[in-house]
Amino acid sequence: MKIKTFLLIFALILISGTSIAQTETNPSLENIFNRTSIRAYSDKEVEKDAIMTLLRAGMSAPSAVNKQPWAFIVIDNKELKEKIGEEFKNAGMIKKASCAIIVCGDMNLALEGQAREFWVQDCSAATENILLAAHSIGLGAVWCGVYPNTERVKVLQDILSLPEHIIPLNIIPIGVREKEQEPKDKWKEERIHWNKW
Ligand SMILES: Cc1cc2nc3c(=O)[nH]c(=O)nc-3n(C[C@H](O)[C@H](O)[C@H](O)COP(=O)(O)O)c2cc1C
Repeated sequence: MKIKTFLLIFALILISGTSIAQTETNPSLENIFNRTSIRAYSDKEVEKDAIMTLLRAGMSAPSAVNKQPWAFIVIDNKELKEKIGEEFKNAGMIKKASCAIIVCGDMNLALEGQAREFWVQDCSAATENILLAAHSIGLGAVWCGVYPNTERVKVLQDILSLPEHIIPLNIIPIGVREKEQEPKDKWKEERIHWNKW
């Protein structure tokens, strides 16, 4: 009996040890834990292949009823980056970024009625995928909010001549990371509730 108990405890220690070790060496989890908003970039250009990888990551996101109600506008034109940076103080770093992706909701592809608003969650999932993919390939990026600020939406729709049914959710300036930046520690045990509040 005593030996059995000992073996059981030993096995439990081994199992828990393995799972901790897996977390520490799991590249996907490491990428999630280490991503952070990057607002300063080196002068190096982000290659087109890398941009395509980020777009592929965005389009891999889950979406309600698999509607994929998104559209992505890649900005790599210097004058356009300057103009957007001037108009959007909250996204001023776009001026120094190699490029930016503007994640938009396409209302012609969105669900109808009350479910239409799911486009925000769908496009947010796509955005997070882009941020994570950028981090994983040595790039730096930051989510700069546009929607639901109606003024920002209008200004960006005008600059980019967007049709009415295309709503920009955010601007993601992207560049090569100048230096590594420590992620913020956001772990808060008190935010977790098990089975009841
Ligand atoms: C909806 C949303 C809007 C944001 N808008 C801006 C913005 O306009 N400008 C900016 O510099 N960062 C913006 N951020 C980035 C946040 O400031 C950043 O995610 C937050 O401080 C946490 O830092 P971290 O991304 O490094 O973990 C936004 C993030 C989210 C999710």
